[in-house]
Amino acid sequence: MNASAKKQRSTAVNNRKLAIQIHDDLVPLGDAEFRYIADMLYTRFGIHLSDQKRILVAGRLTKRLRQLGFSSFKTYIEYLSADTSGSELSELINRITTNHTFFFREREHFDFLEKTVLPGIAKQAVPGYPLRIWSAGCASGEEVYSTAMLLRSYYEQGVNIPDIGLLATDISLEALNNAQTGIYANARLEELPDKYRTRWFTRSGTDSWSIHPEIKKMVLFKRLNLMADRYPMKGQFDVIFCRNVMIYFDQDSRERVVNSLYAYLKTGGYLFIGHSESLRRDTCPFEYIKPAIYRKGA
Ligand SMILES: C[S@@+](CC[C@H](N)C(=O)[O-])C[C@H]1O[C@@H](n2cnc3c(N)ncnc32)[C@H](O)[C@@H]1O
Repeated sequence: MNASAKKQRSTAVNNRKLAIQIHDDLVPLGDAEFRYIADMLYTRFGIHLSDQKRILVAGRLTKRLRQLGFSSFKTYIEYLSADTSGSELSELINRITTNHTFFFREREHFDFLEKTVLPGIAKQAVPGYPLRIWSAGCASGEEVYSTAMLLRSYYEQGVNIPDIGLLATDISLEALNNAQTGIYANARLEELPDKYRTRWFTRSGTDSWSIHPEIKKMVLFKRLNLMADRYPMKGQFDVIFCRNVMIYFDQDSRERVVNSLYAYLKTGGYLFIGHSESLRRDTCPFEYIKPAIYRKGA
């Protein structure tokens, strides 16, 4: 083995030792601490973490503990509960929630929006009638920007153009910041139809793309906890996307959120949920249209 290979090997061994040492320094996430975190996330945000999620929670929070210089989850929880600003809670949420999303995810919803919902709205359109769409649990913005691009193309076909209001909300401030920045790595645009990429994105460095300011300015981003008792918005929406959000929720939380969304939909308005989610027919106030699509009947 030559000198450079020896040096590389010894560095690798030292790094491994260090990793083990750091790992050993941290007191593992105990029952009481896990229960505290799980109960708090459930009561405040409806997020249900089963006991099987314990390793996942420990894994996702370990880096945060290290950043703060804590060696136990007990100390972290003391710190979390003493922080009345809510900023640590926000950090915790950013780490626990899964913000996975992509442009035109579950393409059938966008086809349904274009072929069924928008023509229906055009028929009822009266001057000044605003078209309002809400992306609830918008993560890093791909869902609402897909909607915005689709609306721009749709209304360029010359049908009555309503005022458009797009609202996008999430509990995670980090996700909202990413959405508002509107810069996406190359890989994130792979599924995006070319007509949208060429028109609405410009290169931002070699490995990312930036969404056009005209699309960005169509959207209002706000932080909102879907489990809150009341939402601050005025008026109702024509369409609500709440997709792949309620997967975190248990049945009670899901019903509570579904009822809140119902109140915020116009009569005849549509709710889209994720394809892997479903609403219980016996308690659901909506009319079932097709998988993952519901309507508020008269
Ligand atoms: C997997 S992403 C879904 C993104 C997008 N809707 C989609 O289907 O691609 C789920 C999002 O729900 C958000 N979320 C989880 N619990 C929430 C709550 N109680 N209130 C608001 N947003 C929440 C998460 O922060 C995350 O960004």
